[in-house]
Amino acid sequence: MDKMTIKQNRRLRSCLLLLISSLVLGSSVLASAHEVDVRDDVLGWVKNDTRRFLNAVIRVGDLNRTIEFYMECFGMKLLSSKDFPEEKYTKAIVGFGPQASHFVIELVYHYGVKSYDLGTAFGHFGIVAEDIYPIVERVRQHGGKITREPGTMGGGSQVFAFVEDTNGYSFELLQKGPTPEPLSHVMLQVTDLNRSVSFYEKALGMNVLQSYDSPTDGFAIAMMGYGSDLNKTVAVELKYNYNITRYTPGNVYVHLAIGTDDVYRSAAAVALVAEEIGGRIIRPPGLYRRHVQSFSFVDPEGRKTVLVDNKDYLRSIQG
Ligand SMILES: *[C@@H]1O[C@H](CO)[C@@H](O)[C@H](O)[C@H]1NC(C)=O
Ligand SMILES: *[C@@H]1O[C@H](CO)[C@@H](O)[C@H](O)[C@H]1NC(C)=O
Ligand SMILES: *[C@@H]1O[C@H](CO)[C@@H](O)[C@H](O)[C@H]1NC(C)=O
Ligand SMILES: *[C@@H]1O[C@H](CO)[C@@H](O)[C@H](O)[C@H]1NC(C)=O
Ligand SMILES: *[C@@H]1O[C@H](CO)[C@@H](O)[C@H](O)[C@H]1NC(C)=O
Repeated sequence: MDKMTIKQNRRLRSCLLLLISSLVLGSSVLASAHEVDVRDDVLGWVKNDTRRFLNAVIRVGDLNRTIEFYMECFGMKLLSSKDFPEEKYTKAIVGFGPQASHFVIELVYHYGVKSYDLGTAFGHFGIVAEDIYPIVERVRQHGGKITREPGTMGGGSQVFAFVEDTNGYSFELLQKGPTPEPLSHVMLQVTDLNRSVSFYEKALGMNVLQSYDSPTDGFAIAMMGYGSDLNKTVAVELKYNYNITRYTPGNVYVHLAIGTDDVYRSAAAVALVAEEIGGRIIRPPGLYRRHVQSFSFVDPEGRKTVLVDNKDYLRSIQG
């Protein structure tokens, strides 16, 4: 269904109005200050919003070893670390540059939990470097596993490798020119690529930065993100494997966080698209911990995303 059809769907509009009202009222926030006028073109607005990939959250059984591995092998920095003894977990942020401008990984260690179920839905993180060969050697030396030695594939020119950290989490290494965002993508497996592409385009305002279908290899992918140049931005790689109809979620991958200028309008857009394509809001827009406005939803495949107010995010990482 295209945007015009959605816009013209009056039944949907009244559903949306009810949905948003119940979300806002149900979340004990100031409803009157945040009503989204559904006559707004929220889907058009999403394309104009200031969007950025903020972080991806994963759970690890050995925090120190993971941090060390990412620093020593990949060249990431430990950007912050905080212990929450009352809630029995520690959080560490690692990445290639400051959180204020870079996509980062948030590692969560729950006291006493030594390992997690990887599942099959979460694929890998992508890292871009000008020379991936020394990274592969460092991974080998630090007890990681090389699942694909560096090289090209099928006459292509792209040099890449796949490695696993000491938790068994997978990383794709891509050899490319310098980029402002070396942590380049997160891969998620999907059972219906077209449905997911539509959802990420309409509900989140992303663009297809690259896509291909390889029947001989039995898969198709779409790289979805903001902007137009895959070499300069972060993407979520949606991968469809032919004939695979089910993935297990596991409990390693928690969610992806994306910045927005208005969580209420963003939520209205997600609710509208979810009605048509699938997915649902699991935490309504509101003011949460540390005075950060956010909301969460699952996409049609059940993967969680959190949208976070851009200003609140900047404030929260400074404090
Ligand atoms: C998006 O931005 C353009 C250019 O500033 C503007 O003309 C248009 O009205 C905006 N659309 C929405 C729905 O906000
Ligand atoms: C990590 O290492 C530091 C210093 O060596 C230590 O104080 C801390 O308890 C360790 N944390 C975990 C989660 O093992
Ligand atoms: C992106 O990087 C690849 C590999 O380095 C290069 O072949 C391609 O031309 C780049 N694309 C753009 C738009 O710069
Ligand atoms: C996805 O959509 C394209 C173009 O609309 C179509 O050619 C393709 O067969 C579809 N693929 C699947 C898996 O539904
Ligand atoms: C997918 O299933 C169809 C029908 O069973 C089969 O013809 C095809 O070879 C399968 N493709 C792959 C990549 O396994």
